[in-house]
Amino acid sequence: MQTWADEVFAKIVKKYEKSAALAAEQKVIPYFGESGRWVSSPYDGNSWWTNGFWSGLMWQLYVPTQKEIFKAEALRVEKLLQAELMAFDKLHHDVGFMYLPSSGVHFKLTDDETAKRDLLHAATLLAGRFNPVGYISAWNQNRPGWAIVDCMMNLTLLYQASELTGDPRFANVARIHADTSIREFVRGDGSCNHIVIFDPLTGKALEKPGGQGYEAGSSWSRGQAWGLYGFTLSYLHTKEQRYLETACRIADYFIANIRPDGLTDCDFRQPKEEERIDNIAGACAACGLLELAKQVDAEKAQSYQEAALRMLQALDTLCADWTDDCPGILQKCTASYHNDGAGRHVNIIYGDYYFVEALCKLRGTDVGPWMPIKGE
Ligand code: GLY
Repeated sequence: MQTWADEVFAKIVKKYEKSAALAAEQKVIPYFGESGRWVSSPYDGNSWWTNGFWSGLMWQLYVPTQKEIFKAEALRVEKLLQAELMAFDKLHHDVGFMYLPSSGVHFKLTDDETAKRDLLHAATLLAGRFNPVGYISAWNQNRPGWAIVDCMMNLTLLYQASELTGDPRFANVARIHADTSIREFVRGDGSCNHIVIFDPLTGKALEKPGGQGYEAGSSWSRGQAWGLYGFTLSYLHTKEQRYLETACRIADYFIANIRPDGLTDCDFRQPKEEERIDNIAGACAACGLLELAKQVDAEKAQSYQEAALRMLQALDTLCADWTDDCPGILQKCTASYHNDGAGRHVNIIYGDYYFVEALCKLRGTDVGPWMPIKGE
């Protein structure tokens, strides 16, 4: 396994030395790769929610290689995101995805005071979205009662802010949101809803639409991955048993639904005749499973590690592009089941990010954007 991970990582570094230079030359924050070029997000300018993954990917590559191009690119994009903190009306609940892999990792690695300030600024914006009836409000566009399972991944920002300031109010917000999520998002069989619409005055759950999945009541695989990894993280930050139990329930459900070839359907309840794959879900779930495996008994740990490895090896053998046709690696990523956003079965930056993070976990070099700052 180690040899395989080392070999794949070496191929990634070789390809990404060129891909990082290309991003610098194009002066873009890559969102997806296509026809030998990077393409930036057509939405929300530099406030687009995926824009922190580039810096995170660069740090993951810089730490074990010490190649300057990766550090320079991580810092170039961090600077662009710093300006977005003042563009308040474009920011959203996904500030964790933006600032943990960029400013957060920069601070973790170097103690940089500006990076720390930006991390706390982002955490304050996220805490400001909290509705005391029990949830963090998602997106903008005047949808005050909407919350989404993806937000579980952003909670690290709040846990880290409490860790850094010694003030528990940030972590308290995170716990309340996580507890609401156990109640309203996670179903009995371990599958998750993507969206829950709450009454913003009472906190009563009113509706559970399908969101980026196939339909209401279905099971959008990336949402399952956000839940799996997100509850694992809430456990790592709090050591509250209920978060570990929830993460395991989602993990068992996820593993039972991995395709026979090791790839991941976009929705675990999509019509069988349609091939619609989302490899981002598989890569992210693999990261969650590798962390979860460290927290459970030996038998469960083995099954989580084996599932993670099976998915990662399938991504490598079936869906990795090592040519120059695309500057990104992982293909067959799908933004959402119906309204395709970046597209269907394409390369999207956070697919590459989680694939690389998983390999770094296997090689012991993960820079750990989502983890407690001082380690577990
Ligand atoms: N956080 C939005 C998505 O996963 O597409």
